[in-house]
Amino acid sequence: MSTNSHNGLLQPNQEPSNHRRNFLKTGAVLGSALLAAPGLLTSAAGNTLSAEAASRASLTTPPAALTRRTLGQGKAAFEVTSLGFGCMGMSYHRGPAPDRKTMLRLLQKVAESGVTLFDTAEVYGPFLNEELVGEALAPFKGKVNITTKFGFDIRDGKDRGINSRPENIRKVAEASLKRLRVDAIELFYQHRPDPKVPIEDVAGTVKDLIKEGKVKRFGLSEADAATIRKAHAVQPVTALQSEYSLMWREPETAVFPTLKELGIGFVPYSPVGRGYLTGMLNAQSKFYPGNDNRLGLPRFTPEALKANYPFVQALLDFGQPRGLTPAQISLAWLLARPEQVVPIPGTTKEAHVHENMASLTSNIAQGEWNQLEATLAKSTLVGSRYPPEQETRAAK
Ligand SMILES: NC(=O)c1ccc[n+]([C@@H]2O[C@H](COP(=O)([O-])OP(=O)(O)OC[C@H]3O[C@@H](n4cnc5c(N)ncnc54)[C@H](OP(=O)(O)O)[C@@H]3O)[C@@H](O)[C@H]2O)c1
Repeated sequence: MSTNSHNGLLQPNQEPSNHRRNFLKTGAVLGSALLAAPGLLTSAAGNTLSAEAASRASLTTPPAALTRRTLGQGKAAFEVTSLGFGCMGMSYHRGPAPDRKTMLRLLQKVAESGVTLFDTAEVYGPFLNEELVGEALAPFKGKVNITTKFGFDIRDGKDRGINSRPENIRKVAEASLKRLRVDAIELFYQHRPDPKVPIEDVAGTVKDLIKEGKVKRFGLSEADAATIRKAHAVQPVTALQSEYSLMWREPETAVFPTLKELGIGFVPYSPVGRGYLTGMLNAQSKFYPGNDNRLGLPRFTPEALKANYPFVQALLDFGQPRGLTPAQISLAWLLARPEQVVPIPGTTKEAHVHENMASLTSNIAQGEWNQLEATLAKSTLVGSRYPPEQETRAAK
């Protein structure tokens, strides 16, 4: 199989098998590079991770560890890999946009590693992230699933607020289909509830799009229990996508009982706390004003980063004797949840893809998780996750 000589990308209809072998080979080389590069696995506090941690962190995940999970039930069921991939940061809100060709190739490598769930949204960019994901994953048609989201009012290329009016949902569906280069959207989430549009109208519009074959399944993001229930009565919901991590466990009480009762799946976004739970941020961290929303989030002020450092320290202390990095502990905890959630960590770095995938192979007993949870419960989280106007958009 040959690749495009200019950018090394797979071309449509090429089989990814040789690429997979190359990826595994790259992984092995990368593993030794990581071990040989002092500081690469050093936390913000300066704690250098053990050699065992470094070697485990750079492992290429055996395919058997990437199991299947089903989000939703019946006609709404959606079978995906236990770990998905969040694509947003490759274009939006996580710092200076990385080199596009490198991101295209990285997305393909994630697909070659066996991950089938890729998450994006119209508003990421806006549009740029859907375009990137559509281009990168076109050669993997039928092998991967791209999920996307509607619900923002995007005019002149800028996010102007919320808009889930039926005509806007339809407009976004048509445009997303083109940008993603797919025949149908696998899972179409409402990104945020719209107080001006009854959720029944939103669910009804997606139901019609499903009948027309343009969308396969319906999802919600940051919706509360009452909204989920009303939406589900009109069109069965496959998954709720909301923030959930060792640092933000509110969904457990706010929505998990309803999801369980209705048979709806859960996709935790920001599973490593937007970088917080990786040990790579501290009070001295700077966020790029041009393209990093963490700059405006109360939890990411220098004061909050300093006050919340005990969370990170607890993960370092828990992970170090087990040979695992804080990011791996954070993801392994999510993967061990009885609710069978499907986290979508995002990264722009191949080394972090390897590290995050290796969390699938960890084997930590419930008693040990209980200990970690008890330690974390001693710290009080400082700083809300969104500024007030965005906090009201995010129900729970
Ligand atoms: N529904 C919603 O409203 C919503 C909101 C936010 C996000 N999302 C979705 O969720 C996905 C992930 O969310 P997120 O980006 O907010 O949070 P995240 O996955 O918790 O964190 C991403 C950040 O952590 C860093 N990171 C990841 N793995 C790392 C590792 N092993 N070591 C060190 N740093 C690591 C990344 O930087 P590097 O690039 O340097 O690795 C990036 O800055 C997004 O891509 C998007 O698809 C949805």
